Amino acid sequence: MSGALRVGVAGLGTVGAGVLRLLDTHGAMIAARAGRPVVVAAVSARDRNKKRPVDLSGYRWFDDPIAMAADPEIDAVLELIGGCEGVAKDVAEAAIAAGRHVVTANKALLAVHGAGLARAAESAGVTLAYEAAVAGGIPIIKTLREGLAANSFSRVYGILNGTCNYILTSMRDTGRDFAEVLEEAQRLGYAEADPSFDVDGVDAAHKLAILTALAFGCEVDFDGVYIEGIREISALDIAYADELGYRIKLLGIATQGEDGVEQRVYPCMVPQGTPIAHVDGVFNAVVAEGDFVGRVLVEGQGAGAGPTASAAVADLIDIARGIALPTFAIPAAELRRRPALAAERHVGSQYIRLMVRDRPGVIADVSAALRDCDISVEALLQRGRSPDEAVPVVITTHETTSAAMDEALSRIAGLKAVLEPPRRIRIEAL
Ligand code: HSE
Repeated sequence: MSGALRVGVAGLGTVGAGVLRLLDTHGAMIAARAGRPVVVAAVSARDRNKKRPVDLSGYRWFDDPIAMAADPEIDAVLELIGGCEGVAKDVAEAAIAAGRHVVTANKALLAVHGAGLARAAESAGVTLAYEAAVAGGIPIIKTLREGLAANSFSRVYGILNGTCNYILTSMRDTGRDFAEVLEEAQRLGYAEADPSFDVDGVDAAHKLAILTALAFGCEVDFDGVYIEGIREISALDIAYADELGYRIKLLGIATQGEDGVEQRVYPCMVPQGTPIAHVDGVFNAVVAEGDFVGRVLVEGQGAGAGPTASAAVADLIDIARGIALPTFAIPAAELRRRPALAAERHVGSQYIRLMVRDRPGVIADVSAALRDCDISVEALLQRGRSPDEAVPVVITTHETTSAAMDEALSRIAGLKAVLEPPRRIRIEAL
């Protein structure tokens, strides 16, 4: 291997600028570690004249990132455009077809087209690398694929979205409700103007689908992920969670079963004694449970220019060194299609919170609905006494299926004394 690795950067937003700055700052160190220089040979973005925090005058400019991807002066394309269809996909496909390596931070692209792109890259003999796509600066892809390569994984889970973790942490710290904290997060630049991908759990689901494929050797199956976001979480539930010994976290959880793979993204209660309960603010964390290593937790910043650039450049260094590993740890052609296990079948304890009219017999009616659905109550909490106003009733249950709880909640919602739609939060045994 000789000469520099020549990189074409497609997309010059926050992360693109971070990569240029990182390579500029650590060029000599990276060359030493990679065995040759890693240089940006060309750049491309939608608007050449946009004000950016980096000087682009030293780089070849392409208006068309697809032309850049196939240019003979480029060895690897760094795709930072985003989105699962359109230009980002075209750039990745064009680069692979032209025999260029691809490094991407694009979780949506990999979650939806990961299996096909991996097959194409491996047939073309090029690398498709995506450390930056999952949990930003946390080296979870390397951890699973290399450091823990000797293990069979039973479960992989984590806090995969910093925006949600920031919002939930801030709600707990300040006692404020979701809408108010979201508005503040948008003002501070922690949440997008359109926050739906983050707060509705889609971004975490993209990342989970990638981790599932890597950990369990199956094709990426984004459609198989059960997704709930955090919009319905209230300050009241966060306060009750605290009192019951839990923290509420948006987790992505993938479990390997005999008959398929279960992938779930939802806000859940995790015991305060578990390390992941203390991963706060914009931080991400991923836990892998391997049969020989046991439990491994990695934590770090899941977004932002520095952490994401750190991950993307680590991939470029591997390519420069000539390290080539199968995209999802085993050859793409050998990735199995595993059935997606229905989330309704998942068994676990649950928390429900009702707002009820404080009259005799209400608890009996609620208990009857739970009994009729074969759900056993673990604890019940009612505070306050107000015949004229709604009062909260909190119930935690022993293990039950989500399907049984769905049925019980629909019966409970129909009771006259229940004044608001019941809230349910799963309790995860971690
Ligand atoms: N928007 C994501 C987050 C980071 O809040 O974690 C990029 O996936």
